[in-house]
Amino acid sequence: MNKLIKSYIVVLFLMVLTGCNKANNAKSKEIVTPFNAQVDSLMALMTLQEKIGQTVMYSGGWSITGPTVSSNNKKFIKEGNVGAMLNVYSVKGTRDLQKMAVEETRLGIPLLFGYDVIHGFKTIFPINLGLAASWDLEDIEKGSRIAAEEASAEGIHWTFAPMVDIARDPRWGRISEGAGEDVYLGSEIAKAYVKGFQGNDLSKYNTILACAKHFVGYGAAQAGRDYHTVNMGDDELQNVYLPPFKASVNAGVETFMTAFNEVNGVPATGNKFIFRDILRDQWGFNGFVVTDYTAINELVMHGFAKDRKHATELAIKAGIDQDMMSSANRQYLEELVNEGKVDVKLINDACRRILLAKYKLGLFDDPYRYCDEQREKAIVYKPEFLEAARHSAAMCSVLLKNDDESLPLNTNQSIALIGPLVKDKENIIGNWAAAGDRKGKAISIYEGIQEYLSNSKISFAKGCEIEGKNDNDFKDAINVARSADKVVMVLGEDYDMSGEAASRTNIKLPGRQTDLIKAIRKAVPNKKIILVLMNGRPLDLSEEDTLADAILETWFPGTSGGYGVADVLFGKYNPSGKLPVTFPRTLGQIPIYYNMKNTGRPIPPNNPKEDYKSNYIDVPNTPLYPFGHGLSYTTFKYSDFKLSSDIINISDTLSVSSTITNTGDYDGHEIVQLYVHDKVGSITRPVKELKGFQKIFLKKGESKEVQFQLTSKDLEFYNNKAFVIESGDFEVAITGTSNFDFQHAFKLE
Ligand code: GLC
Repeated sequence: MNKLIKSYIVVLFLMVLTGCNKANNAKSKEIVTPFNAQVDSLMALMTLQEKIGQTVMYSGGWSITGPTVSSNNKKFIKEGNVGAMLNVYSVKGTRDLQKMAVEETRLGIPLLFGYDVIHGFKTIFPINLGLAASWDLEDIEKGSRIAAEEASAEGIHWTFAPMVDIARDPRWGRISEGAGEDVYLGSEIAKAYVKGFQGNDLSKYNTILACAKHFVGYGAAQAGRDYHTVNMGDDELQNVYLPPFKASVNAGVETFMTAFNEVNGVPATGNKFIFRDILRDQWGFNGFVVTDYTAINELVMHGFAKDRKHATELAIKAGIDQDMMSSANRQYLEELVNEGKVDVKLINDACRRILLAKYKLGLFDDPYRYCDEQREKAIVYKPEFLEAARHSAAMCSVLLKNDDESLPLNTNQSIALIGPLVKDKENIIGNWAAAGDRKGKAISIYEGIQEYLSNSKISFAKGCEIEGKNDNDFKDAINVARSADKVVMVLGEDYDMSGEAASRTNIKLPGRQTDLIKAIRKAVPNKKIILVLMNGRPLDLSEEDTLADAILETWFPGTSGGYGVADVLFGKYNPSGKLPVTFPRTLGQIPIYYNMKNTGRPIPPNNPKEDYKSNYIDVPNTPLYPFGHGLSYTTFKYSDFKLSSDIINISDTLSVSSTITNTGDYDGHEIVQLYVHDKVGSITRPVKELKGFQKIFLKKGESKEVQFQLTSKDLEFYNNKAFVIESGDFEVAITGTSNFDFQHAFKLE
């Protein structure tokens, strides 16, 4: 019997004797979770240093074959001074460290193993901005469930996902990791991820803790520069950046992660207002909060703490429970308690929350339950996982343009495949690709197309590199273009041009890629050019839009990406993706997003050139491709719009419906979107807001009535003083894109 159990028996016996068992004290204000008694009895045994140990996390290098756990980490683990490790995975890697914690420390408290399982663990799905483009909540949940299956089979208990930061600036590299610009879509997607990762029973060995990150406002970094200052009014914080986190709490997310940035002058990692007042007091979150990587130390650089010890004090007082990689908690917390600067209760609270998470995962029943070699071999890269990733890649693709039905391709035509990403198997899995393979496992676009065309119908030329200045291979590209019936160009970014610390001041295609498509267009002026994009952010495609006949946005489509994209190119999957983020005409328009404010001098639709209006003198206000935009190989007609009433009161539900008909030649999915516009408010309201969507499938010629239920709660907003629902006039629409004018209205009394 291990020593931990022995010591329990002693303590539980003493507790029964002294009658201090909490269960007898029915008046205890504490929320009694199923494991409170166990946590109480364990904490009664722990020294202050051991409790502090639970609040410490170290990194173990990206894999056990890569940078191994440095000796001091192992020393700290053996001293019982580490509560969690990140960036260590595999059954062997995690079991070796778990053995140290469980069998070589005084109390044998198991470690938590965390990892960035963001869009897959080994079977990598499209990047999250791409997954958002599917608007398919079921598929997003399924993909994160698969990621949890694979990660848990390799010893991982906890993923640092979902990243739910609203982002409206494509210069910011981390726009690739989230669900784009919209609050409603972002909130619905956040819930789907949490449910997928955590499942409905954390005690199962294939479910893992999720982590809503980065709290809060990270996507609003000034100038899109990563880690930069964030400053916004309460209305923007409450109406735009907080809701996806609140949705994560409502979905039961077990952990939160702090953002690196400051929020209105106070760095998130030392920000009591957001972590204690909002997250815990207002929202009732009772999971635990982990800092981002070394974020406690960064309070000094922010100019918010005078030194690391002061930073440690500020973080724990702000409600931060665990320190990722700063070493600050381990070095200073005990001293701060002894000096009377930190109340030991704060450490007890943090330790309790972390222990509760370990109990919920069943780690005290069996610390090695996620270390099963048989399961590791059986689960990873299961054919159905790779198939699911293929389907996600197809569903995430967005058909931005398709002149003269240039797509789908047909198999009796030859194609010239041109571009640096045609045969790519490394970038295709995108950034934050966890334990994904970049050395050959992924299916390239070239290989995907080979499933449809014999090699005799495919010619290839790289044309140029992703970056770089030379055009030496343009000639080859021009030759293959001339020799084929159609041209398919696969262009885009390197995977590490987006993600963390990857902001760009220029959002055009890198290197000579635009020159390459210009050269091809010049060489074959009358030939169809299909542009397939792989990128981690909205790009400025204004030139490409004039050169290509069709443009398919595939983001970074993942391990099975080549198959999924080919399924779309050849029409096996009729593209249904819709943009979760606006594509600007030019960088100069940023920030640009669909639900902006009207201003006091909006451009009159019938006279765009009128003077003294809120516009540019050189570029229209409209984006190149708007939020919610995405074409299909078929066409859909919206008709028979109906409201159950044109006047509702606060307790009513308004039924809004429209009939959608597939009027084209292909069966297909349509993402039906519901928008409202609050015409007058106690603060100004966006010109339109997404309030619902449904993804439907219609065979050609088929019609279906789609209904939404709107309540006054859906119309609630924060007006810088309180959350309010205000009567007045509202416009409402059901459409297939955010680019529309309202035709219908109702009144809220
Ligand atoms: C990084 C990221 C965060 C990630 C963490 C652990 O700096 O900001 O999203 O979860 O460190 O890798």
